[in-house]
Order: sequence, then structure tokens, then C-alpha cells
Amino acid sequence: MDKKFYITTPIYYPSDKLHIGHSYTTVACDALARFKRMQGYDVMFLTGTDEHGQKIQDKAAAKGVTPKQYVDEIVATVKDLWKLMDVSYDRFVRTTDDYHIETCQKIFTKLYEQGDIYKGEYSGHYCKPCESFWTDSQLDENGCCPDCHRPVYEAHEEAYFFKTGKYADRLLQYYEDHPDFIQPASRRNEMIAFIKQGLQDTCVSRTTVPWGIPVPFDPKHTMYVWVDALSNYISALGYGNDTYHDYDRYWPANIHMVGKEILRFHTILWPAMLMALDLPLPGKVFGHGWLLMNGGKMSKSVGNVVNPEVLCQRYGVDAIRYFLLREVPFGNDGMFTNEALINRINSDLANDLGNLLSRSVAMCEKYFGGTVTDQGEGDAALDAELEEMIRDLADCVTKDMDELLIPQALTEIFKVVQRANKYIDENAPWALAKDESRKARLESVLYHLCEALRAAAALLTPYLPNTTPKMAEQLGLSAEDMQYEGLTYGTKHSYTVHKGEALFPRIDVAKEIAELTRQDEERRTAAQAANAAQQAPAEETKGEALEHLPEITIDDFAKCEMRVAKVLECENVPESKKLLKFKLFDGERERTILSGIAKWYKPEDLVGKNLVIVANLAPRPMMKGKYVSEGMVISAEDSEGKVTVLQLDAAIKPGSQLC
Ligand code: ME8
Ligand code: MG
Repeated sequence: MDKKFYITTPIYYPSDKLHIGHSYTTVACDALARFKRMQGYDVMFLTGTDEHGQKIQDKAAAKGVTPKQYVDEIVATVKDLWKLMDVSYDRFVRTTDDYHIETCQKIFTKLYEQGDIYKGEYSGHYCKPCESFWTDSQLDENGCCPDCHRPVYEAHEEAYFFKTGKYADRLLQYYEDHPDFIQPASRRNEMIAFIKQGLQDTCVSRTTVPWGIPVPFDPKHTMYVWVDALSNYISALGYGNDTYHDYDRYWPANIHMVGKEILRFHTILWPAMLMALDLPLPGKVFGHGWLLMNGGKMSKSVGNVVNPEVLCQRYGVDAIRYFLLREVPFGNDGMFTNEALINRINSDLANDLGNLLSRSVAMCEKYFGGTVTDQGEGDAALDAELEEMIRDLADCVTKDMDELLIPQALTEIFKVVQRANKYIDENAPWALAKDESRKARLESVLYHLCEALRAAAALLTPYLPNTTPKMAEQLGLSAEDMQYEGLTYGTKHSYTVHKGEALFPRIDVAKEIAELTRQDEERRTAAQAANAAQQAPAEETKGEALEHLPEITIDDFAKCEMRVAKVLECENVPESKKLLKFKLFDGERERTILSGIAKWYKPEDLVGKNLVIVANLAPRPMMKGKYVSEGMVISAEDSEGKVTVLQLDAAIKPGSQLC
């Protein structure tokens, strides 16, 4: 077989339990992989876990276990989730696997020996949550990480660099020659703009992160996690190791599917690495949007996670898969709400699909004892449109899937389902049944319905792998009847059906939402009770999940010099909507500090106030070096993102140290 299809998901950080947003990427890849297998492709569907880096090291330390113990435990839950969601991956790569480490070390050494990696000195800003280095000009207007907008840390150290900059022109040329490489197209323009603004070399090693792959020729360094992580796409095929031997068969990948926030690593750093290694580039990198809840990117840190296991248990795996694949225009962000989910289940799965099956099967049994055969008793006026739609369906769906328009593909299938429901109303089989002379026509009508259901069942299999076998059973379909190849109208001539259970029971929306709210309350009360038992809190403490940092010693804390400073002047920064510029007296001298709180304060309201500043923070240039911020004003940010500046009693003398 020479039709091969290699598709990858990102490899997941096993930093916490996965949420429904993570399932989105993987379920989409699963549908694509299953679709290609159905078309007869030899598919390699790769997923895995990205297990190195500071973040994991910190989380493990906080739990008092080794990083390896920590990741082993979480990787098991990741695999369980994919099993639960029927994710049919062919291979699971862990970046702590020996063969992967071997490959990464070979790649690093090769790039060093040929001069694409060199030793230098790193000084810049590091964002821990994103595990990304940033230069001054890349920081946002608050001097924070341009991706997640959290504070960055200053870092100076000996480090190895990869010559990403050297590949800028070749990358741009490649994008031009391969207009489909980056998708959707809007994201392609972002990447071009990013390169054109000047591509810097990438810092690819650290001496301060022990939990990583050692640089083989200089083992006090560990590799930058992204170099490690991206290499998974070829290490898992056996490039640079002898564990697998599939590189020649499957590389280059047909599709790397990634979330939009990591598109840059996949369309700049990774292709540059591949160019340096003299390897072909993947066919497509698709940056999909986010599943949002309450308006923000859904993640643990905003506390609105929806647990995929709970959802699957309550509504069934296929309902969840259907929602993920159907609701969000692929490429855009989409909202997740329980209400939207329930409405989808009711309208598409219970009403359209479920009803079509149960009505059709019931009528076949009632009027023909379960067996209907094509009687050739067509009625062109009534049948032509449905027949045509069934005939075209496989092609339409295939075309959409080839363009990664997964929701459209589902829409096409459901158009046939809806058309078939309308066909029942148009033909009124119950009326035909009353007229003995119309018996053959009645049988033909039911036969058409079975054909529509067969096409739908066959083509829905990649998306609803648990549901379509149930449809096949009720319709009496063999594996051959369900085959993609040659799927068209009129190839199966006779059906013997058996009524079964409803595919998707209808949900009472109001009742269900009330029940979910009640469960939510119950969980919250239980969490509060657990809190109370632990620490006998002051009354009215409402618990919510907060993100914690690893424990520090009193010496760590003592490194931070926090002082009271009085605001002498305060003004808006004309180039920025977010920033206020303060002139403060810190007890010793005047200093300038920029702070991203313009959304919450008018400058004049803060003049004369006593604030708290971090006085020994390294000064940092902001707004492309136009200003230098000498410290930081301490504020409190609540879980909704509202920021309040900490203000102290006017009687406290500027310069007083917080201790
Ligand atoms: O980024 N909606 O891992 P990760 C949609 N280890 N997709 C979401 C999402 C949401 N709410 N939340 C997360 C990493 N994702 C790296 C990848 S690849 C060589 C290394 C997606 O666990 C996210 O966009 O943080 C990403 O594609 C994937 O889940 C893994 O995220
Ligand atoms: Mg090999």
C-alpha cells in the first residue's frame, strides 16, 4: 500500500489532569486518522507527552516526588483519557523514553558539529509557565510574557544557541512555495510578519534546569524543552534510534495539528531545525483555535475546567466527540457551555439522527416484518434529491476532510439525515400503508430511508465510533455494506432491520441544567467543608482553586526588597492603553515605574498615595526602550483578572521596608 498518512497531535504537558480543551486537538486528529484509515490509507497517528522542563520539576518538588514519579503517574491518566475517548493513536511517545533521548542527543550533536548550534551567553527573560525565552523587544508593554502576559524572570547564563536567524529567508521562501504549509491562512500572515520583524537565534540549552535531556558533549547543560519536544515527531519513527524503523515510511508528516499558541514553534523553529538537519518539512501545520469557557482560554489556572471523564460518563463519549468536532468552526475559538452541549445532543443526535433511525426501523418492522427490498418503485419527483445527496455524500465529506473542515463534513452528513426526515413527511408512509395498491411504493420509500441511514452510518464512523456499530446492528449492515469504497446509493438491495435502543435519549434542558448546578454547589460545599476541616478558617471563606508556586525558604523571600513609596506624579503612557507611569519617592530617591493598571485607575486618583514597590527588581526597558521601569508596583489580581493596587496608610513613612 503506498497511500500513507502521518498525523500528529502536540505532545501534552503532564502537568495536571487534562481538561476538555486538550481533548479537542486529540479528538480532531482521531477523526482525521480514522477517516483516512477508512479510505484505505496506511495511517500513523502519533500522540504523547512532553515531560521535561522547569515546570514539571517544580510541580514534582511541590508534591514531594521525583519528576519521573510525577510524570509516570500523570501519563497513566492521559492514556486512560484517550482510551475513554476512543482515541485510536498508533503510537504514544514519551520524551523520557530512552529512544527519544538518544535521538535528541544525536540531533543536538549533529547541529553543533556542523555549526548550527554554538555556545554563547544568554541574557534575557524567561517565562516559566510557557517555558519560553524572550528578548526585550518581544515582551509585552508591561514587560511580561507576550504569550501569557505573566511576569518573566531575568536570566543570565552560558548557553547554546541554534541559528534560527540563518534560516529566515529560506523559511519565507518555503511559505511562498508551499501556500498550504501554514493553516488557516490568517495564521500564515502572522508567522510571516513575525519573521520579517527579525528572527533571532534560539537559546537551546540551560544550566539551571536539571530535569531535561543532557547535552551529550557538555552535560551540565540540558536541552531547551522545545528542541526536545519537537524532535518527538521523528524520534517516534526511529530517526536517530533503533527502536523504530518507520522514518522512511512516514516522514514527512502530512499534518502537525497544534493549538494556535504553539504554531510559531511548529512553523519556525521546527522547520528551521529540519532544514539544518537536511530533512523534508511536514506537509501542513494547522493551528486550531481554543475552546473557551467564560470568555477565557480554558485552563486549570482560570478555574473553569470541565472534566472530560465526568462529561463522557454523563452524556456518552460520542456526544462529547460530536460536540467538539461539530460546534467549533475548525480554526476559530469556540465556547464550551453545558447548555450548548445539551442542545447539540438534542437537536442533532437525538432528534435528527436518533429519530430517523428509530422511525425508519419501526416502520420497516411494522409494515414489512423487518425486511424491505428495493422494489424499483421509484418516484422521480420525490426521490431524486435524496438519491442525489446520498450519491454525492462521500465525495463532499472527503473534500471537507481533505481541507480539514471537520464541522462542515459533519454538516454534510447531517444534511442528508435532515433531508431523509423531510422525505418521510413528504411521502407519508402511514398514508401509503392504508392503500394496498401502494405497497410497493411504501417499500421503496422505506428502502430509501435505509440507504440514507447506511450512508450516514458509514461516513459517521470516524466521528462517532461507538454509535455507528449500533446503527449497523439495527439496520442489519455488514462491514462490507459500511465500506467507504464505492459507497453510493443503491448498492445494497435488501435490508433486514432489528429495533434497538434509542441512540441518544433526549435530555430535558431545564432539568439537566438545574441538576448540574446542584452538583456544582455540592462539590463546592464539599470543598469548603474539606478546607474548613483542614484549617478552621475565618467565617465566610469561599474556596476556589488557586495556582500555587513551589515552596520557598525564608531566605528566598528575604531576597525581595519591598518598600513603601509615595506617588509624586502619575500619568498615562501615550503609546499604551494599559500602562501608567509613576514617579515615586522611595524614601531615598525618586524613581520611575511603569505599571499595567491603566484599565482600573485614573492617574490623578493615585497621586499622593502610599504604595508598595519591589525596590530591587532589575530595571527593565519598556516600550521599545523609551522608558525604563525601576521596580514594580504591588497589586492584587483576583480570579476574574481585576487588579487592585495595594495602598497603605498615609502615616507610613516612604522607604519603610515590608517584612
Ligand atoms: O503546548 N482549547 O502542551 P499543552 C483548545 N507540550 N486546545 C487546547 C486548550 C483549549 N482550551 N488547552 C490546551 C504543549 N489546548 C506542548 C506541545 S508539541 C511538540 C509540544 C491544546 O499540554 C494546546 O493548544 O500545553 C496544545 O495544542 C495542546 O492542547 C497541548 O497543550
Ligand atoms: Mg531507525
